[in-house]
Amino acid sequence: MMAERLAASLSPASYLLPAAASKRTAQPSSAAFFPSPRRLHSTASCSLRPVPSPLRLFQTAAIGSRRTTSVVMCAASDPAQLKSAREDIKELLKTTFCHPILVRLGWHDAGTYDKNIAEWPKRGGANGSLRFEIELKHAANAGLVNALKLLQSIKDKYSSITYADLFQLASATAIEEAGGPKIPMKYGRVDVSGPEQCPEEGRLPDAGPPSPAGHLRNVFYRMGLDDKEIVALSGAHTLGRSRPERSGWGKAETKYTKDGPGAPGGQSWTVQWLKFDNSYFRDIKEGKDEDLLILPTDAVLFEDSQFKVYAEKYAEDEDAFFEDYAEAHAKLSDLGAKFNPPEGISMDDDSNTNTTTTPQEPFVAAYYSDSEKRKKD
Ligand code: HEM
Repeated sequence: MMAERLAASLSPASYLLPAAASKRTAQPSSAAFFPSPRRLHSTASCSLRPVPSPLRLFQTAAIGSRRTTSVVMCAASDPAQLKSAREDIKELLKTTFCHPILVRLGWHDAGTYDKNIAEWPKRGGANGSLRFEIELKHAANAGLVNALKLLQSIKDKYSSITYADLFQLASATAIEEAGGPKIPMKYGRVDVSGPEQCPEEGRLPDAGPPSPAGHLRNVFYRMGLDDKEIVALSGAHTLGRSRPERSGWGKAETKYTKDGPGAPGGQSWTVQWLKFDNSYFRDIKEGKDEDLLILPTDAVLFEDSQFKVYAEKYAEDEDAFFEDYAEAHAKLSDLGAKFNPPEGISMDDDSNTNTTTTPQEPFVAAYYSDSEKRKKD
């Protein structure tokens, strides 16, 4: 309890503030925090040099209002820096309980991918475009400016890591630290260089469309993902909360969220909403607790006959869920990305890559509002 309150008082992000304050600052506005122009246009480890290899070429775009087109050589993200940044992200998670919003940040950067467009970065995907104000202002991204704020000091510390890599590193680390599976990630994603390269609004799914199954298939098939991957990835809602002042969905608070951890309020899908497990599927199936959220796009996973096969399986078998989730998450995190080097960079050559193994010290949140219910589970 003390630790959380201390974390809340130290954090700069409205994500961690009481509901009323959070309400005032949740929507990005022109006065909200955005990276400085220098930060916005910096590309990891780039310098103007003669061109040694076609693989290392790409072009910079606008800087301020002056559009410059230059050949830029970009070094791949440095594995040592990636490892060190991962440790910093772990510390951030311990003090701020921001696992869910970091997962959502990674997903919303990658989930704009359109497999029918070959050209990078027009095809969207994991390219760091979500750092720009124009994309943060898309309705689907309400509140994600707070995730960017949380990560900015880590970005500033590591000059060789792109935003695209940092978003995906933060998301995968959050899943693992919440007790989820090891995600077989690779790194080396190249960043877009300017806001004119952001995708148009409307590529991410709605939570309450007229035909939820058809809508999910339209959106996720466009990303090149299939029914199994739609159901597995939806299981990420085992973490986090929905806030009416951001997405318009969920209750302002419930007995599971009224005291945090982190900023109080919102409605969670699960009781222990900072623990990655298969309770999302078990809770939707049971559907009895009015304090837990079920969006139309969550409910349909048990209504549509093809989705239901996987949803039932994951409700019964957590290992199967972890295995499929880890694979789908890694695929999601690569969507649309341009890697330098093309084969990507692995950080885990020396560590365990068994996707079904839970980390030795699974994340346990310090405190949940309804600690009595927690004891029973
Ligand atoms: C299937 C289609 C999906 C829909 C319609 C959907 C919709 C939503 C909505 C409405 C919220 C609440 C946002 C807020 O009010 O702050 C949310 C939160 C969240 N979503 Fe999804 N989502 C989908 C898929 C995914 C996927 C694929 C992932 C990750 C792999 C994901 C991860 C999350 C997380 C972790 C949160 C909690 C964020 C927080 O607590 O700050 N979602 N989603």
